[in-house]
Amino acid sequence: AAPRYLVTMPVPEPGPSLLAASGAVTVLPQPPDHDTLRRLCASGDFDVVLTQLRDVVDADLLAAARVRGVSNFAVGYNNIDVAAATDRGILVGNTPGVLTDATADVAMALVLATARRVVEGDRMVREGRFAGWEPELLLGRDVSGAVLGLAGFGRIARATARRALGFGMEVLFAPRPPGDRPVGDEELGEFAGRVRQVPWEELVARSDFLSLHVPLAASTRHLVDAQVLARMKPEAILINTARGPVVDEAALVEALRAGRIAGAGLDVYEDEPRLAPGLAELANTVLLPHVGSATVSVRREMSRLSALNAVAIAEGRMPPHPVNPEVKW
Ligand code: GLV
Ligand code: GLV
Repeated sequence: AAPRYLVTMPVPEPGPSLLAASGAVTVLPQPPDHDTLRRLCASGDFDVVLTQLRDVVDADLLAAARVRGVSNFAVGYNNIDVAAATDRGILVGNTPGVLTDATADVAMALVLATARRVVEGDRMVREGRFAGWEPELLLGRDVSGAVLGLAGFGRIARATARRALGFGMEVLFAPRPPGDRPVGDEELGEFAGRVRQVPWEELVARSDFLSLHVPLAASTRHLVDAQVLARMKPEAILINTARGPVVDEAALVEALRAGRIAGAGLDVYEDEPRLAPGLAELANTVLLPHVGSATVSVRREMSRLSALNAVAIAEGRMPPHPVNPEVKW
């Protein structure tokens, strides 16, 4: 029988066409709630489900699921209980690589926007409060010469390092906080001699901009908590383009209010789309709506990869980007 695909919300082309060329496609008009998704996955009506970050594919859902695979329209897959999927012989796919540069662009945009108060300035102009050039209007911070600390040194961190070096920043990284597994010199490649590896504690203490590039896992949940915020420099700015729960957002609001750190540039939130109380009222923050990968071409590529993963799984082949290739099937 032809494969049957469930897509949990509309996605751009070419994914839908690729799926339609392989089998039958059902696209939900909007993301389903958890019960609905569980019911659909348990119905036996679909071979592969193409999910979004908002779809919580937990052990409970997977225990009832009668699908061969879950293809996530994202590089991150913290929304999926991969261990439970593996136990049940369900393959999981993701979309690495294609969104690396786009996400690093947003990390750099947040560095520049927070340092130079881009959003405050825009608001001032629009609200008619710009009264002419002034020597001390909206003074910000230097980016060149500042220390950028990268928490993590995966693809997106490296792409951010490349940009930061171009802006004359001093780049430090902690490879895999909190338990750093050092990156060997031979793995540094183009960065050898240009960036420095330091322990997480030192990264926290030395960064003018601390940018997070770790996946969300039990070990990285609240990696940046009240204690870490207290050890940052008072003039430091926190940048998060990774996952919201990596930061204790209530503690961040508290630290920003108290002036324990100088600012934050965020693309992700602990409980999206909700914000911690008080966050939106702070002037020293730049807040984006999880748009790290949001370019026309990147979303097309994510659509293509997630469809290729889904089709491969449905047709009984190993997908091009499996998260759990060890699955037995
Ligand atoms: C977006 O956040 C992704 O993981 O692709
Ligand atoms: C994600 O693509 C990463 O490795 O940073």
